[in-house]
Amino acid sequence: MENPFRPELIETSDGSHTLKLQGFDEQYHSVNGALQESQHVFINSGLHAFEVLPNPLFILEIGLGTGLNALLAGREALLRKSRILYEALEPYPVEPSLLQLLNYPRLFKEPWIEDLFGCIHLAGDENYTNYKDWFFIRCFQTPLQDKVFDESKYHLVFFDAFGPDTQPEMWSAQMFEKIYSSMKPGGVLVTYCVKGDVRRALKAAGFEVNKIPGPKGKREMSRAVKPV
Ligand SMILES: C[S@@+](CC[C@H](N)C(=O)[O-])C[C@H]1O[C@@H](n2cnc3c(N)ncnc32)[C@H](O)[C@@H]1O
Repeated sequence: MENPFRPELIETSDGSHTLKLQGFDEQYHSVNGALQESQHVFINSGLHAFEVLPNPLFILEIGLGTGLNALLAGREALLRKSRILYEALEPYPVEPSLLQLLNYPRLFKEPWIEDLFGCIHLAGDENYTNYKDWFFIRCFQTPLQDKVFDESKYHLVFFDAFGPDTQPEMWSAQMFEKIYSSMKPGGVLVTYCVKGDVRRALKAAGFEVNKIPGPKGKREMSRAVKPV
């Protein structure tokens, strides 16, 4: 599917790249630092919320985009030697010519990061593509609205859609109900957004929702838990 958002490369405050949507006041990550935002919202506040990491850990990401969140999750799997099964939705994959320009692999000292990044963008929907024995990824080009999920599968959800002003349809109670059913009891959903309407939609879907400290440049973010 052609990408209607026509992304272009920009550099953010921490030196990491992101993509800006031409014609919208919206980026794939925060202009205050793409890397620091992804690390804070999805890894430090999501993956690290588990006292003991389930092995394997099932992660669902809404919006694979550049693959930065997947790269950070894969890096955790490799460093901890703990298996992660990662499933992502991405109806509008980023063009390979643009992916090649992203500086993410150069931001880490691990020599295998570049191969891990390459593996993420090879992922298809039929089988898992894996990097070593620790990171397994599948990517579906199905939009969230059309996706039928297995029940009670995911421990952790990275909800990383464009903001509610750009894509209000992604943030409805109906969408969160689908995701809620796909999660295991005790499962955690993290998102950068703290808008009142979004938190109310999450609660209406059944989640317990908390505001927690946000990444640099943003006071708060949301963490939602499916009650046990
Ligand atoms: C904020 S960006 C995600 C950034 C991404 N997580 C990353 O690390 O680069 C939002 C993503 O949601 C994707 N998207 C747009 N519409 C979608 C839909 N209906 N279902 C799932 N994903 C969608 C966009 O193509 C985009 O990649």
